[in-house]
Amino acid sequence: MRIARHIQSLEGYVPGEQPKSKSVVKLNTNENPYPPSPKCAEVLKSFDLDNLRRYPDPNYSELALEIAKRFGTTPDRVFVGNGSDEVLSLCARAFVENDESIGSLDPSYSLYKTLAAIRDVKWMGMRSGRACDAETDIRRPIIDARTSLFLLTNPNAPTGEFREIEDIAAFARRFKGVVLVDEAYADFARGNCMSLATAPTNRNVLVMRTFSKSYSLAGLRVGFCVGPRDLIEALYKIKDSYNVDAVAQRVALAAFKDRVYHRKTVATVVKTRKAFAKALLKRGWDVIPSEANFVFAKPPEGTKASDVFAYLKSQNVFVRYFPGPLTGDRLRITIGTDEEMKKLLDALDRMN
Ligand SMILES: Cc1ncc(COP(=O)(O)O)c(C=O)c1O
Repeated sequence: MRIARHIQSLEGYVPGEQPKSKSVVKLNTNENPYPPSPKCAEVLKSFDLDNLRRYPDPNYSELALEIAKRFGTTPDRVFVGNGSDEVLSLCARAFVENDESIGSLDPSYSLYKTLAAIRDVKWMGMRSGRACDAETDIRRPIIDARTSLFLLTNPNAPTGEFREIEDIAAFARRFKGVVLVDEAYADFARGNCMSLATAPTNRNVLVMRTFSKSYSLAGLRVGFCVGPRDLIEALYKIKDSYNVDAVAQRVALAAFKDRVYHRKTVATVVKTRKAFAKALLKRGWDVIPSEANFVFAKPPEGTKASDVFAYLKSQNVFVRYFPGPLTGDRLRITIGTDEEMKKLLDALDRMN
C-alpha cells in the first residue's frame, strides 16, 4: 500500500481562509491587527544575506536564552518550534504510545483531533465550558486511563474561557501523563501558568506560547514551550535539525525583547475586545467572557450563526464558523482594530 490506511481516511486540518484581497476585514484566524515591533523591520533591513549561506543555529541559543531569562529558568528547559503547531505535533510523537490516546477539552483547537488521527491514536474530548452547557470542572477524574498527553488550551479556543492556575495545577497533579498548557492567547488574559512549567518540582507540565498572536508574527512561524528537562530533551531528539530558520530566530528575538511595544499592542487589543463584547451584548448577542483576542458569540434568538457568517462574508467581513453541535450556534470573531470592529457592527446593523 502506498498510503497508510489511517492517512487515507484522514480528514486533514482545515485552516481559516486567507483571502488575497486586502480590502477584506479579516477577523477569522486570530491574527493581530497591528504590525510587529518596529525592531523586527530593523533586523530584516540589516540582515546579512551571507547568513543564509550557512545552516542556522540548531539550538537557537540566543532566543532560547532570552526566553529562559524572561521566565526565570534555564535554556535547557526551553524548546522552540516552527510555530507552536510544530511543538504540538512533536509532543504527539514524543509522549504517546501507539495504544494510548491524546486528550483535550471539547470544544477546543480542532488541530488536536487531527494530530491524534495523524498519529493513529484515539482522541478523547473532555466536554467543558459554557459553549456546551456542561459543568466546567477539570478537577474531576481523568477521562481515560490511557490518555498520556492532554492538550489544555488556556484561554480556551474557540470559547475564550480562562481557567485559574490552581485548577490547572490540580489537574496536572492527578494526570499521570504530560499536560501541555497551550497558552497561545495567554498574553491577552489576566494570568498564565508559566510558573507551573518552571517550578523545580514540575514533572509533567509543558507551557506553550506562540509569536503568532500577541507578537503579530503569524507569518514567521515561531512558537516555544517550557518545561521539565527530560521532556524538553525528548522534543530535541525528534525535531528536524534546523526547525527554526535563521531569519525567524533573529526576528522573533527582536520582537520578544521589545516589551514596551508588546505591552502596548496587547493592551490595545484587550481594550477593543471589551468594547466590542459590550457592543454585541447591546445588540442581543450572547458573548462568553473572553480572555483572548477573539470572542465566541451567539446571535440573538431567531438568527442562525451560519446565516450571519454567510451574510458577513458577502459584506467582505470574514469571521470563523465551526459547524457542529457544540459550536454551530456561535461565531468566533477575532479582535481587529476599532475601525474593523465598527465595520463589522455596521454590517450587522444593516442586516436587520
Ligand atoms: C490554541 C492554539 N494553539 C496553537 C495555535 C498555532 O499557533 P502557531 O501559529 O504558533 O502554530 C493556534 C492558532 O490559531 C491556536 O489557536
